[in-house]
Amino acid sequence: MQPPIPRIELLLTDEAASVALAGAIAPHFRPGFVLYLSGDLGTGKTCLARAVLHALGHRGRVPSPTFNLVQSYNLSSFQLYHFDLYRFSSPEQWRDAGFDEHLGGDDAAIVEWPELGAGLLPPPDVWLRLAIGAPGGEEEERVVVASAGTEWGRQCLIGIVDAIRLGLLAGVSLQGDWLPPVL
Ligand SMILES: Nc1ncnc2c1ncn2[C@@H]1O[C@H](COP(=O)(O)OP(=O)(O)OP(=O)(O)O)[C@@H](O)[C@H]1O
Ligand SMILES: [Mg+2]
Repeated sequence: MQPPIPRIELLLTDEAASVALAGAIAPHFRPGFVLYLSGDLGTGKTCLARAVLHALGHRGRVPSPTFNLVQSYNLSSFQLYHFDLYRFSSPEQWRDAGFDEHLGGDDAAIVEWPELGAGLLPPPDVWLRLAIGAPGGEEEERVVVASAGTEWGRQCLIGIVDAIRLGLLAGVSLQGDWLPPVL
């Protein structure tokens, strides 16, 4: 039986924990895989995207695409497009810029600020919603709500839960009352 894992909530203690989480997500990237990253300014979206790219073998810099809207990376077996829609003034810019062709299909994608393309972007495999940790908590603490939009995404979340349970993701813990099934 395959239990549904629509959504999990994670607590990250520091930036290294964000990098660890990215390392657990990266192996799920493949042609057509789409990761959405939401959250206020400075919550760590680009930090996560950068860590995913490094985990996938990219050796160079990963600048924030805030100004040029998109940055593309030639990885060994597919192309990954890193979008940042923060400067969009309307969702139509997504279509006007011809970005459609890079979502799904042969390319993988990471999209920061996906809500600014609302209605024109397809649903993601995984959607991470990042927030600064509880008031009074540590400065680097982040809360991440991760939801899956597809079976690939569900497998990715299961992989994250398994890695946490095996103690492989230092600084990452599951929040809330959701308990993974004991196999
Ligand atoms: N747990 C954490 N995870 C990620 N970044 C963290 C964490 N704790 C502190 N930081 C710091 O927070 C900042 C996050 O910046 P980043 O550019 O990744 O944010 P962003 O969400 O992409 O913002 P923007 O919406 O402006 O693109 C960095 O300076 C990073 O060092
Ligand atoms: Mg950013």
